[in-house]
Amino acid sequence: MVGERVQHRPFDLPLLLHLCLLHLGDSGQPHLTPQSPVEEAVSIQGVRGNSVELDCGSGPAPVVVLWSFTPLGSLVPRPVAVTDGTSSKVEAGASALGVVSLRNSSLVLGELQEGARGHFLCQALHVSGAQLHTTYSYLTLAVLVPVSKPQVQLSDPSPVEGASAVATCIVREGTEPVTFAWRHQTPRGPGETRLGITEPLLWLDPVDRTHLGWYVCSASNAVNRLSSDGVFLDVIYGPEKPVITVEPLGFTEEGFWASEKEEVTLSCMAESNPPSHYVWLRDDAQVHTGPTYVIASAGRTHTGLYTCLAHNTHLDTRTQTTVQLTIYYPPAGQPSCAVLPTLGAVTLLCAWPGGLPTAQLRWEGPQKTGPTAPSNVTWSHAAVGLPNGSVFTCTSQHPALALPTFCRVKIWEPPKSPICWTTATVGDQFIMLSCEWPGGEPPAVLRWLDRQQQPLGSASSSLAIHLLQAQGDLAGKEFTCQGSHPLRTPDPYCRLQLEAPHLAVAESRVSVLEGEEAWLECALQEGTPPAQLLWLGPQQQQVEPGTSGFVLHPAGAQLRLQIRDADPVHHRGTYQCVARNAVGNSSQSVLLEVLSEICLGFFWYPAPPNVTIRRLTYGRHRREVQLQWAIQGPGNLTSFLVQRRASGSGPGSGAWETAASDIDPESRGWRLGGLDPGVLYAFRILALNHHTAGYPSEVKTPVDPPFSAYPAVLGAAGTGMVVATVVSLLVFQYAARHPRTFPCEWESKEKDPAQESPDAPVNVTITVTATP
Ligand SMILES: *[C@@H]1O[C@H](CO)[C@@H](O)[C@H](O)[C@H]1NC(C)=O
Ligand SMILES: *[C@@H]1O[C@H](CO)[C@@H](O)[C@H](O)[C@H]1NC(C)=O
Ligand SMILES: *[C@@H]1O[C@H](CO)[C@@H](O)[C@H](O)[C@H]1NC(C)=O
Ligand SMILES: *[C@@H]1O[C@H](CO)[C@@H](O)[C@H](O)[C@H]1NC(C)=O
Ligand SMILES: *[C@@H]1O[C@H](CO)[C@@H](O)[C@H](O)[C@H]1NC(C)=O
Ligand SMILES: *[C@@H]1O[C@H](CO)[C@@H](O)[C@H](O)[C@H]1NC(C)=O
Repeated sequence: MVGERVQHRPFDLPLLLHLCLLHLGDSGQPHLTPQSPVEEAVSIQGVRGNSVELDCGSGPAPVVVLWSFTPLGSLVPRPVAVTDGTSSKVEAGASALGVVSLRNSSLVLGELQEGARGHFLCQALHVSGAQLHTTYSYLTLAVLVPVSKPQVQLSDPSPVEGASAVATCIVREGTEPVTFAWRHQTPRGPGETRLGITEPLLWLDPVDRTHLGWYVCSASNAVNRLSSDGVFLDVIYGPEKPVITVEPLGFTEEGFWASEKEEVTLSCMAESNPPSHYVWLRDDAQVHTGPTYVIASAGRTHTGLYTCLAHNTHLDTRTQTTVQLTIYYPPAGQPSCAVLPTLGAVTLLCAWPGGLPTAQLRWEGPQKTGPTAPSNVTWSHAAVGLPNGSVFTCTSQHPALALPTFCRVKIWEPPKSPICWTTATVGDQFIMLSCEWPGGEPPAVLRWLDRQQQPLGSASSSLAIHLLQAQGDLAGKEFTCQGSHPLRTPDPYCRLQLEAPHLAVAESRVSVLEGEEAWLECALQEGTPPAQLLWLGPQQQQVEPGTSGFVLHPAGAQLRLQIRDADPVHHRGTYQCVARNAVGNSSQSVLLEVLSEICLGFFWYPAPPNVTIRRLTYGRHRREVQLQWAIQGPGNLTSFLVQRRASGSGPGSGAWETAASDIDPESRGWRLGGLDPGVLYAFRILALNHHTAGYPSEVKTPVDPPFSAYPAVLGAAGTGMVVATVVSLLVFQYAARHPRTFPCEWESKEKDPAQESPDAPVNVTITVTATP
């Protein structure tokens, strides 16, 4: 049994071994040296493939060491190695135990084999003095095996949800006890999950979708721990009922809404493995394949029921979901605001009809917020305390509009008050009562009332018109136009009374010289409605403009009749100015006189008027006289001239001398002083017109005034006296030098006193009484 290559042979090793084996082989009782110590068996563990060193006791170095091995389950010991300290020998068969060597007395087993399991005995021979004695060391070696890399085996790599599946962790070898652990990772999960299973079998019963993913098992024993590669469990399921979402998202009671012209995306998601195939239907017609259906620009016709069908091709299972999509659109145009007047309040109207859904409208006032309603909203707001110019805003909101829309009303009071007037229709058949009060928001309401405050006709805004049938009994009737506006209290009004016309003529008697033009003037003074004016000629016919030299000049309330080239035959007579309105008539007459001209001299001036002496009385002590006169007939005059002459047959009688001239043409009375009380004078008066003297008045001599007249004359004399000196009588001088230009009758008959001393100035003192 012992190999031949042992180098040192201090002992006969076979012999020794034999002794030892002999000794062990029997009852185990040492025979050789009964006093030799027997050591307790020591348990040692080694790991397969590693090395282990077996110690052969302590104490002084033995002379000889013999290692023997009894495999597990066997009773027969076998020698392994022997050494005497300098040389050693290892039994060739010991390679079943591993790589065996000796280190001093220890047995070293490298690359340990499972065959090394068993009992080792080390017998050491010691020399102590002359005695030999033996020690025995018993060792029990256990060889442990590491676990191999586990493998996961699935009963079905693609089970359908609800079925059962088993994952098995397979370990080829490894010293028991081997323990197991399982880990699971979902494909997109947060991380590995450690499962609480310590068995090599992982039961998934029933399998569900959460079981899908990678499985790894680990095995471990006293020596090591190893993990398997991951194995994928593909659980087949679905599809679930699809979930539809709409972008942009808007919910209605029935489903979803989107705005007109917007891009709308419908997405469908149904959980499924393998992933679903999707089909979109609108109102049962297929419109799209794929999980998302995009409507590039939504229109009202896109409103409908949208169905998403999901299909799992592996299982050939289907699910579906239907949603309602409504396309919203705002009402057309703009919201409109209006205001109506009501008693003591303003009624604010705001409307914006149409749209889907209808727009939400809200009134807002300067002080508070008003009501809210869809499509149209009405707010009755008290007028009391509302300032002029108050603004009310109606705000409209619609889901399809990003920003609200507005309309506004400004409540304002019309300025001033109503104005009333009347007009008559052509032919005066109807009288129109008009009343106006413009402006305002709401516009003012106007109505006509009669004297009893009963309304006539219906009310209207800003302008009220009432028609009356023209009747004579309307004259004097009163009508009131009442205005009302919420911001104005009390109600303003205007009033008018129907009246027959009244007119006035400028002169009731007009005299013109033949060939001149005459003016007849007529003016309307009153009359409601305004009257129409007309002139009737002398034959009661209406004057037609353009005929017979008639020209009408209407101007405002006046109507002037111009008569050109007055002619006594055609034009003289009584004219009537007539005013007519629908209520009545009135007229005034004017007498037109056309006078033939006298004194048609070189100058075509008309003659001055005739003068008559009204009164000629003596003043104090007959040194002065008081003259009063009047003019008769037509004619122009620029001044008066008073002449005197001594009557009787005394010296100076018969010659007229001018006592006063250049008397104001408006004057009708003169006080003439410087008289000789002893002389009886005669007086006459002439009217002068530029270059022409009129007919002299009749000649009169003064008389004594009645006694009672004296104080009045004296009183008048005291109030104011003007003394004027007339330097020359130019007219008379002129007439004297140009006698041929004055072919007038009186001049040729009478001798003018100025003629006798043509160039001598005549000083005359005239006492003028200024008439207040
Ligand atoms: C063997 O024993 C000798 C002497 O006792 C010692 O010096 C040596 O180190 C030992 N060798 C080993 C490998 O233990
Ligand atoms: C306003 O709305 C009411 C219902 O709220 C409706 O009866 C009425 O006809 C609407 N008026 C207008 C002008 O739209
Ligand atoms: C009310 O205000 C408006 C302007 O907003 C103005 O024209 C009007 O005259 C005012 N009315 C009165 C009565 O002051
Ligand atoms: C006014 O005069 C016309 C004719 O000139 C007459 O027919 C009418 O009756 C008169 N009207 C009144 C109210 O007097
Ligand atoms: C003025 O007096 C003259 C002479 O006496 C007379 O012929 C004439 O008719 C008178 N004129 C008027 C208008 O009276
Ligand atoms: C009378 O004389 C005044 C002033 O010279 C003149 O303006 C007027 O036209 C004359 N009237 C007539 C009827 O000639």
